[in-house]
Amino acid sequence: MSKKNILITGGAGFIGSHVVRRFVKNYPDYTIINLDKLTYAGNLANLRDIDHAPNYRFVKGDICDSEFMLEIFRQYNFEGVIHLAAESHVDRSIANPMEFIMTNIVGTVNLLNAAREIWKGDFNNKRFYHISTDEVYGSLGNSGFFTEDTRYDPHSPYSASKASSDHLVRAYYDTYGLPALISNCSNNYGSFQFPEKLIPLAINNICNNKPVPVYGTGENIRDWLFVEDHAVAIDVIYHYGKNGETYNIGGHNEWKNIDLIQLLCKVMDRKLNRPEGTSAQLITFVKDRAGHDLRYAIDSSKLQKELGWKPSLQFEEGLEKTVDWYLNNQQWVNEVTSGEYKNYYEKQYDLR
Ligand code: NAD
Ligand code: DAU
Repeated sequence: MSKKNILITGGAGFIGSHVVRRFVKNYPDYTIINLDKLTYAGNLANLRDIDHAPNYRFVKGDICDSEFMLEIFRQYNFEGVIHLAAESHVDRSIANPMEFIMTNIVGTVNLLNAAREIWKGDFNNKRFYHISTDEVYGSLGNSGFFTEDTRYDPHSPYSASKASSDHLVRAYYDTYGLPALISNCSNNYGSFQFPEKLIPLAINNICNNKPVPVYGTGENIRDWLFVEDHAVAIDVIYHYGKNGETYNIGGHNEWKNIDLIQLLCKVMDRKLNRPEGTSAQLITFVKDRAGHDLRYAIDSSKLQKELGWKPSLQFEEGLEKTVDWYLNNQQWVNEVTSGEYKNYYEKQYDLR
């Protein structure tokens, strides 16, 4: 029986590794080709448990290389693409926008072009699924939610590059009929997240008795979703979503940054057998992020009603699981925070 080849880009990253694992384990009739450049954020150690599976292949490659992408499409004749590869950290986009423009915009267009060229208008059973973010919608005030109809209003180079890629995916659907669809998700947390992002950075700093940097006054609000719930949503949308549609994914789980960090400090005190209040002493308010969006909150009712997805975990439970994972995987943390991370950290945070 011929197997369906599915390309997952960015599969060695945080969310990508959860998606690859889920597809490799749940769909033995698919061959999953994970294409990743292995930037600082990509790590094959994230996939050690499945890397010998018979239906899994890894290809090291850069989505910015158009010739290489065409070659890969020719070689594997993909039936589906789930596109996660991206530069994903807002602070890095403020310091160095160009890589975001290249990977997130040009890289996405290269994939769209390769799909168009190789599929040659025969779009039967083909699917191009682009993974995006709620940050394209900009910032909310104290009330309201982002729906699929909210006007795009990105504020950081990262979100502007993702917004641009979303527009291009829609343009290829409208202009060439490429069978594409998009989802826009809120903040993810869980295992294998690179410790430049708020939750793993704070866990790592608390473990090492280092200051926990909170931008501005800590009043900004994010809507947090457990990464495995995002992977389930991606699975459901890939299989049952409609071409040309957008689906918002979110946790209905809003937290002010400072409240989240206070909760995390309590969990860490308990896990590390420290007197309550010890970790909270590490909280340090630092200079705010430029253009810092105040509030994100996703209305995911379309996805829930049309495709029956909903988040499975309460935040407190997900946070405990996440903390346990980081405490049990100190070697992973040490490996990814050696080298380049140190330079990044020193430039980003003026902290001792
Ligand atoms: P990540 O930074 O952890 O991983 C990105 C992966 O892409 C890495 O493995 C990296 O090596 C790879 N990559 C980067 N540039 C590449 C290139 N030029 N060619 C090939 N591979 C390349 O990111 P993440 O947090 O897992 O996010 C994955 C996707 O989900 C992104 O598109 C992001 O915009 C989106 N998203 C993330 C979140 C979140 O909270 N992290 C929320 C919503 C949407
Ligand atoms: O909303 C989805 C987005 O969530 C994704 O598209 C991005 O790829 C992902 O990085 C994430 O973006 P954020 O900027 O919201 O995540 P981050 O973890 O960087 O920051 C979360 C909040 O915490 C934000 O308000 C900034 C603040 N923050 C962050 C860091 C790293 C701090 O206060 N201190 C910090 O050191």
